[in-house]
Formats: sequence, structure tokens, C-alpha cells
Amino acid sequence: MKVFVADKLPQESIDELGTLVENVENKPSITASEMDSGLGEAQVLVVRSTIVSKECINNSPNLALIVRAGAGVNTIDLEAASNAGIYVANCPGKNSIAVAELTMGLIISLDRRLADNVIDFRDGKWNKATYGKADGLFGKTIGIVGLGGIGREVVKRAKAFGMPVIAWSRSLTPARAEEMDIAHAESVEQVASECDILSVHLALNPETEQIISGEILSKLRDGALFINTARAGVVDEDALFEEVRSGRIRAGLDLLSDEPEVKQGPVESRFQELEGAYVSHHIGASTRQAQLAVASDAVDIIRGYINEGK
Ligand code: MLT
Repeated sequence: MKVFVADKLPQESIDELGTLVENVENKPSITASEMDSGLGEAQVLVVRSTIVSKECINNSPNLALIVRAGAGVNTIDLEAASNAGIYVANCPGKNSIAVAELTMGLIISLDRRLADNVIDFRDGKWNKATYGKADGLFGKTIGIVGLGGIGREVVKRAKAFGMPVIAWSRSLTPARAEEMDIAHAESVEQVASECDILSVHLALNPETEQIISGEILSKLRDGALFINTARAGVVDEDALFEEVRSGRIRAGLDLLSDEPEVKQGPVESRFQELEGAYVSHHIGASTRQAQLAVASDAVDIIRGYINEGK
């Protein structure tokens, strides 16, 4: 059996894979055209951010299992995989803490304008007067849309900061909200209307696409913060751009709809011109702890596949 690893996994996990199968091809810097031309005799493919296109799938006749070392599977052509009878597995929940930590990081950074502090310092400027006007987070209401693993980790951290929480998720009942000691909202609109900071934690699917619409964004109070560490597609990005450009709200974004597919290289985005937008480089899951947990889950999936043929 051959396992093809088309992204950077921790060396420990590559070594462990080597104990399971004879042939592990580790090619973290594979290009899109190399992927598209097919993966030879590989039966198993492990990817993180690398795109798995229809061409790649159709040109890899032996492929039987694709393991996404992460939660979202939007980088894989699922229809092509299903037509080719390829099983696609993911590793949900393993990077929830890392994403929740980045969420809090973006909130604090925006409130204190940390990125601007650093840029000015590197420019030789000391600006205590400009940056001494943060709001502070204690007592600010955070609105959470989506209460899966990541949303729940954000709730814990927000509470530790003394922030009241109002949340909506499809399955959140008033009783469950009471148990969690958070306020239950009937709708996303209610969350947006009643919070100071809105953070979205939903997987992207047809039901959640642009769930944070222009209308929802317009419900945010002046000066509110919007945080997206989920997927770019859950928000109406044009409307978000206009709201941030007008200066009415500020945004902390770990994702953009036009983020580069490459892991390293130049970037061009309209959000670069906005002072009120802090954009990180899709690094929510990028802690060593999270990557070890995700990779070890990926290895377990492959072990299960080898042992049980599934
Ligand atoms: C995820 O879907 O879990 C993240 O996008 C993973 C990643 O960035 O590797």
C-alpha cells in the first residue's frame, strides 16, 4: 500500500505512517499541477490545505481514501471523490482549542490595535496617545453563531474574560443555554442585535453560506467587532468590506474568499487597504499542539482503514 502525504505533517506522524505501510511518499511542497496530474499508485492521500481537484481524483486510479488533516473538507472535490468511489475522512474537533485561541487573539488584537502598535514601533514611532483608547473586553457581550467544538471553546474563554455570551446554533435549546450559563438567541439576527462582538463558528455548507448576510451585519452596533475564524463563505464578504470601509465596525478575519491557494507567496486583497481589518493567514489550526493532534487522528484513520478495510 502507498500513502501519499501532500502537505506538511509533523515528522512524528510521518514516522508512524512508515510503521504502518511500506511506501510513504512525503511531498509537502507539491504544486497544483503535480497534484492534478495524479498520484500514481497511491491508495491513500493525506492533505491539509492542498487542493484535491477533480483532475487529481480522475488521474489517480488507485486512490481509495482521502484524509483531510483538519475539519473542513471544502478543499476537496467531494462530488468527484464520491463518483470515483473514494472515501473522504476528516479530523474534526482536534484543532478546536487552537481556533478558539486565535479567535480570542483577534478580539484582543483589535481592541488594543496590537498589529498597528507593532507596525508603528517597527517604523520607529511610539504612540501611547493613539493606542491608549481601547474599549476593554470585560462586560462586553460576545455573540456566538455556531456552538460546535470551537464555539464551545470560545464560550469558556470569553467567560473567563468576564464577557456575557449570547449564542445561536441550530440545536441550542433554551434549557441547554441555561445549563451553559449563556443567553439563548432565537435567531442569528437576535445575536447580532444584542452583542458587542460577533464571532462565527460554523462549517461551510449550503445552509450556512452567507448566513452572516449584509442585513445581519447591519444589525451590529456602531463600533462592534466581527470575527471570522470559520470559512470566508459564511459571510457576505462584499457587505462586510463596505461595513469595515465605512469605519462602522472592525473585523478580525482568518480567512478570505480570495486567499491564495499557495502556502507561501504574495497576496493581493481589497482588505489590505482597510485599517479596521486585521487579517491573519488562515492559521487558526496552525499550532504545534493542534497539528500533532490532527495528524495523530489522520494516522488512526489510516490504521483503521488498513486493519478493517474501511
Ligand atoms: C480546518 O478545516 O480544520 C482548518 O482549515 C485546518 C487547517 O488550516 O489546516
